[in-house]
Amino acid sequence: MKQKIAIIGYGTVGKALFIQLQHQHQYDVVKVGVKHSAKHKELNRLLVTEDVDSILAQSNISVILEAIDDSDAAFEYAKQALSAGKTYITASKKMVATHLTELYELEGRFGGRLLYEAAVGGAIPVLRTVREHFAGEEILRVRGIVNGTCNYILTRMGEDNLPFAKALAEAQQRGFAESDPTSDIDGWDSYYKSVILAYTAFGDKVNISRVKWHGIRDISLADVQAAAKEYKKIKLVAGIKCVNDKVTIDIRPTLLNSKDPLYHIDRELNGIVIEGKFAGQLLLQGPGAGGHPTASAMVGDLLNYPKASARIVRKLLLSMN
Ligand code: HSE
Repeated sequence: MKQKIAIIGYGTVGKALFIQLQHQHQYDVVKVGVKHSAKHKELNRLLVTEDVDSILAQSNISVILEAIDDSDAAFEYAKQALSAGKTYITASKKMVATHLTELYELEGRFGGRLLYEAAVGGAIPVLRTVREHFAGEEILRVRGIVNGTCNYILTRMGEDNLPFAKALAEAQQRGFAESDPTSDIDGWDSYYKSVILAYTAFGDKVNISRVKWHGIRDISLADVQAAAKEYKKIKLVAGIKCVNDKVTIDIRPTLLNSKDPLYHIDRELNGIVIEGKFAGQLLLQGPGAGGHPTASAMVGDLLNYPKASARIVRKLLLSMN
């Protein structure tokens, strides 16, 4: 029998999710929760509802895939779903970064699952790699470009001398930017993703002791052109380190030369370098924003969640050392 699942949100990511889930024949999307159902005439009237609470109350829906940009509403939905023992799959980085401990507590108490691979790096399996591939070793540092919109803007300014505002408008039009793009350009989005990376790499009990960040709002075309003259590029780079159980996060526009592995990460791509004590440096790169890449990570979570929790496995392994 098909497993009944529901989508909350029918924007750029929600629509991509709906399309991708048509190919997963073991699942049946039985409800799509939206803000204004009249706006989505293409959806079957039996599927669509503005009453999200009724979806969450439906005991035969075991998995919720949520893609909305209101992190407060997402938190309420996540709490309700996890308290009912459901699996809650989300792309909401602000919600996860802000409430992770509380959500883990609900997960542990009621047996639901919180999955959020899509919250960092779009289609790149970065959280899974940090948890599983680096399960047995100490991570020294994570460093990366984690905001597709900023990277797209800086690339377009450099490649085609596009003014900042025009490049941002393009990023918005292509579905990379947040509904309020100040979150992208002022660095908030990179900050939330860095917090999630920090928890994943160093444990959710670590103390984030120092955070510094600066967005790209004041980078001018002249700055980008001056960098290009020296065969360099300006990119918004996030650095995350843990020393003596104290995590520091540093996000800033950075001048990179062509020897830096992040130099070649252009447009909406994200690139993340994970440095392990024994493995050395690993670079993951791929589409970091946009409907289909983000939905792809959510569908990956959906197909993988019945497996044992890698997060718990990583903790157990480390505690044995
Ligand atoms: N606005 C985000 C970005 C979307 O540009 O990276 C993906 O999280």
